[in-house]
Amino acid sequence: MTRRPFIGGNWKMNTDLASGAALAQALATESADRSAPLDVVVFPPFPYLQSVGRLLSASAIALGAQDLSSEANGALTGEVSAEMLTDLGVTWVLVGHSERRHRLGESDALVAEKLAMALESGLSVVLCVGETLEQRKSGCAHEVVAKQLESALQRLSADFAREIVIAYEPVWAIGTGVAATADDAREAHQEIRAVATSRYDSKLASGIRIVYGGSLVPGNARTIFAEPGVDGGLVGGASLKAGDFLSICSAATIGITAG
Ligand code: PGA
Repeated sequence: MTRRPFIGGNWKMNTDLASGAALAQALATESADRSAPLDVVVFPPFPYLQSVGRLLSASAIALGAQDLSSEANGALTGEVSAEMLTDLGVTWVLVGHSERRHRLGESDALVAEKLAMALESGLSVVLCVGETLEQRKSGCAHEVVAKQLESALQRLSADFAREIVIAYEPVWAIGTGVAATADDAREAHQEIRAVATSRYDSKLASGIRIVYGGSLVPGNARTIFAEPGVDGGLVGGASLKAGDFLSICSAATIGITAG
């Protein structure tokens, strides 16, 4: 099955109002071509969503948020609802990023609630999963990723499941400069697709986009994207430089083979 490549740029807690706008402007200028055969989304910090969204509005790049509340509204100081995000023109959201799971204590259960809230509110979701270095060293990487995924998919209908993008992001590769090898990425993606197959069926699972994240840079993107079953990437550090991010986007249009 042919899956449309996907590239996300996760700015994390970086940029300021001026530098975020400059980055968005540079991306918009270079990405006016709406016919490019891939989905590109940037995920700026909450306070800059509106200004970045305006700058990207004439481009082919969609606007994403890095998180959302699992609740619709109410007395939840500091939280941001799905409706607030859609109000700002946000169409995508990250759910379950490892920094939220491991540094901010988000449980599998909370991730599942956020996933449901986002999808029911009409947002498209990148669901992030991945194992830590310790888990990998102790040989349970596959079990950890499978459990994260099963918990997220447990109550998800087939109609919602076929819409999500899953990001395999091994925690040890995020921000470390040590990306997974192409073989590691291919194997993990196969395992993720197998979990989706057993939860739903192979037809549905073969349509789900699974992207790789963790120290993606222009120098390794093509090799990783050439692996069958790798449908693009979620880019952190390299998404803060317009040239690097766009060159990773080009690698995705050239290098991706469905499998
Ligand atoms: P990185 O981050 O590209 O800086 O490793 C990826 C991510 O956290 O999504």
